[in-house]
Amino acid sequence: MSEKLRIIYAATEVEGFSKSGGLADVSRALPLHLKQQGHDIRIVTPFYRSIPENHDTRILIPSLGVPLGGEEIRCAVRELEMQGTVEGETVTVPVYFIEHEDYFFRSGYYDDGMLEYPDNAERFGFFSKSALQLCRALKWIPHIFHANDWHTALIPYYLFQEQEAGTELLVSSSVLTVHNSGYQGNVPGRFSNSLDIYDKFIVPEIFEDHGQLNLLKGGISFADQVNTVSQGYAEELKTPLGSHGLHEIYADKGNAFSGILNGCDYEEWNPESDPNLPECFSINDLAGKKVCKQKLQQTFGLPESSEVAVIGMVSRLTWQKGFEYLIPALQDILRLKVQLIILGSGELWIASSFDKLKEQFPEKLGWKNGHDNYLAHLIEAGSDLYLMPSLYEPCGLNQMYSLRYGTLPIVRNVGGLKDTVINYQENSQKGNGFIFEDPNAEAVAEAVDFAVKIFYRKPARFRKMIERAMKQRFTWTAAAEKYSALYQKTLNQGVK
Ligand code: ADP
Ligand code: GLC
Repeated sequence: MSEKLRIIYAATEVEGFSKSGGLADVSRALPLHLKQQGHDIRIVTPFYRSIPENHDTRILIPSLGVPLGGEEIRCAVRELEMQGTVEGETVTVPVYFIEHEDYFFRSGYYDDGMLEYPDNAERFGFFSKSALQLCRALKWIPHIFHANDWHTALIPYYLFQEQEAGTELLVSSSVLTVHNSGYQGNVPGRFSNSLDIYDKFIVPEIFEDHGQLNLLKGGISFADQVNTVSQGYAEELKTPLGSHGLHEIYADKGNAFSGILNGCDYEEWNPESDPNLPECFSINDLAGKKVCKQKLQQTFGLPESSEVAVIGMVSRLTWQKGFEYLIPALQDILRLKVQLIILGSGELWIASSFDKLKEQFPEKLGWKNGHDNYLAHLIEAGSDLYLMPSLYEPCGLNQMYSLRYGTLPIVRNVGGLKDTVINYQENSQKGNGFIFEDPNAEAVAEAVDFAVKIFYRKPARFRKMIERAMKQRFTWTAAAEKYSALYQKTLNQGVK
């Protein structure tokens, strides 16, 4: 490593404290690995209502003033040390929690289960500003402010403001990681006052977007470096079809925009030591996988059979994941000799479609509406195939988990899925999964039908694929080295 850097890592979800999707996994694993590589990295995240129920934190700053929108908003800062294991070594990273009861003591992180909170821009704008203010209060000036997604995309902008004002943050740089360009923080223009977004910046090249403010877009403009979570998605983001409307903004960043593939946390997702499983297993001895399959069938009340092909899915229930074409395709898929097991939470129409399908196919569909980490592990372990037919997928972690558990992924040819899964081909020795192209019901049904045929008719080939899948590695060590290089590039880039 070239230089030991001070990094503040701002994220609205961190595994162990708060989680709705993969951002949480990344916000735990990446800081732990960067710490292990020698950096002084600290996480800042909101103090949500569920956190004090499960963690003892201590007050670090009883009252911090955060100037925003002509007011001084007061919050407290709490702290604890997050512990993890990296390559057998115990590593700890300080986590700073921003405590503001009105903003963060709510039933959900982003919504009340039905509707997004109408003041999300203010909640997360405040959180973003507090990250800067916190560092100043601690007299700990980071080399890098690392922001993630639209919620913290205002950090690069607020850093720019500090630098215009010539504060001690003049020496800092910003990196913004886009985990999902489909969520941009589009809010009415009236929020500009409470967020301190000045008129001169409300132009189409920066914050303005169809008469509204687009917080992600503004953040991309101000960030010193922007990256996303796979190279495949980075390429897609530069095209009109794949960028969710922001392709020009990404393309304009030139060399300051790149893709770094996420890693997979092989401490947490390891079939050889996973405490969630009724029996562990390895490439050399898959007997435990059968036990997991049986337990999975029991848990979901499906007929117990080691012969039948079990297809698993663990997913946020949202259009990004391809449900619009998957649900019609299930009429065909559930007529195959398969069991399908789905765990998910999210949009109501998707959940109620599964409720109806469950009535229609009670012996073939196992379905649970909810968030359940134990079941997520059991599904990865006990299934034969894993379905991820995403419309778009910036990286995707579940296909990496399923590879490690010898559960062959069936994925669409997009984003991080195409960067991590190798398609089955009759005479190739490389395949570890099944890839299809088109985002429609026929294509997904055909891909599942094909994978299931290989399962039944070519067990030796299927077994070889399992071995290749289980050997595949996407390490956080490699990803963290790339982030180190990105930070270094960011520092070299600016005259600060
Ligand atoms: P995304 O971040 O778009 O949701 P990823 O594949 O990157 O997709 O990460 C999803 C993460 O969230 C994985 O760790 C997955 O196991 C977890 N997850 C998603 N839905 C659930 C659920 N209903 N219960 C438990 N874990 C879930
Ligand atoms: C997002 C993306 C997912 C990615 C995750 C972590 O939620 O949808 O593809 O794996 O972030 O980067």
